[in-house]
Amino acid sequence: MILQGKRILLGVTGGIAAYKAADLASKLVQAGAQVDVILTAAATAFVTPLTFESLTHRAVHTDVLAMATVGEKREIAHIMLAKAADLFVVAPVTAQTLAKLALGLADDLLGATALSCPAPLLLAPAMESHMWEHPATQEHVRILRDRGATFVGPAMGRLASGALGVGRMAEPLDILEMARAVLGRSGPLARRRVVITAGGTLEPLDPVRVLTNRSSGKMGVALAQAARDAGAAVILVHAPLAVPVPQGIEVIAVRSAVEMHDAVFSVLGNTDVLIGAAAVADFRPADAAVQKIKKGETQELLVRLVRNPDILAEVSAYRQERDRPRVVVGFAAETEDLLKNAQAKMATKHLDMIVANDVTQVGSGFGADDNRVILLHKDGKQEMLPLLPKMEVAERVVAQVGEMLGKI
Ligand code: C5P
Repeated sequence: MILQGKRILLGVTGGIAAYKAADLASKLVQAGAQVDVILTAAATAFVTPLTFESLTHRAVHTDVLAMATVGEKREIAHIMLAKAADLFVVAPVTAQTLAKLALGLADDLLGATALSCPAPLLLAPAMESHMWEHPATQEHVRILRDRGATFVGPAMGRLASGALGVGRMAEPLDILEMARAVLGRSGPLARRRVVITAGGTLEPLDPVRVLTNRSSGKMGVALAQAARDAGAAVILVHAPLAVPVPQGIEVIAVRSAVEMHDAVFSVLGNTDVLIGAAAVADFRPADAAVQKIKKGETQELLVRLVRNPDILAEVSAYRQERDRPRVVVGFAAETEDLLKNAQAKMATKHLDMIVANDVTQVGSGFGADDNRVILLHKDGKQEMLPLLPKMEVAERVVAQVGEMLGKI
């Protein structure tokens, strides 16, 4: 939702990755943003204004001396564009344009607009490795970072020359995710630290076999995105996930419940919020076999299981209040007596809120893209949400967390 109605200024400079900027423009438009595109002269050698006009349904700008029409009025293009923008993204940004931005040159529309633009700047460099690694470029990157610009990429991979190295433009989806993160910086969770657990833990039986569950981690990843979009610094402690982790989220990858427990406690200091969305195995095999278990002639195999630590309950009880995150939220995935079980869990784990979902419902819960949940607060307040995409459920949960923090 964060891109809905936002004005994004998209600068495109002259590199082969310019063709991917068309995909970025399209994704931004699909996310509800109004996208104004500036092409440098070199960019027009790779892509045409018509490409971007077709995607954004808006005039594309190339000339520093041009006037632009706003309603009835004629305005100086770069001043008008700079004033209107919520975010200025330059993708791809070449070594040449990085230098121009660092030095504040205004000899073309992109440079002049950047000098006039108070909006945050997001840069997605693309160039050959030796250009990226050159001390001159690195100096420009440092200057721009010090001035508050955010960089996404460049990534490692195949470059235009065919060589392998660092210098590929970040993928359009990664740039979009970073745009969301930058736009959210002054949101309701600004300066808050949020730790989220996600994924289904793997409990080893032997070196090749594990006990696990059907969790995809989608809900936890959506929560991490929503908290990031609300301005929080997010750490996602996750067991294996069926979806990638988007940009702007710090990750700690774990496998078992014990590893997840230790990772959560290692980052708990100064944490404001903990959201436990992981499907943590309640039990693990008592002794994971060192060698692969052989079936031999046996018709039956008994595995002794022992209890795993309850991460949320331990965090909630953590040195009784002093170091406990101010808001602790859990999930209750239930197949029966949803409200009763969720309420009992909230009480025994000393949670501030629990998100209850009946995982027997078709199209909701484990592995699905949507979720139908009830938000239960410790003060008894209940909010029943309709079937919603997990991203929207996550936004509602994060909004509640913001309200709770505001009251403390
Ligand atoms: O007790 P149950 O597993 O149903 O509780 C669910 C909630 O507790 C979820 O938020 C889950 O992430 C968390 N949990 C945990 N550690 C466990 C078991 C569950 O943090 N060992």
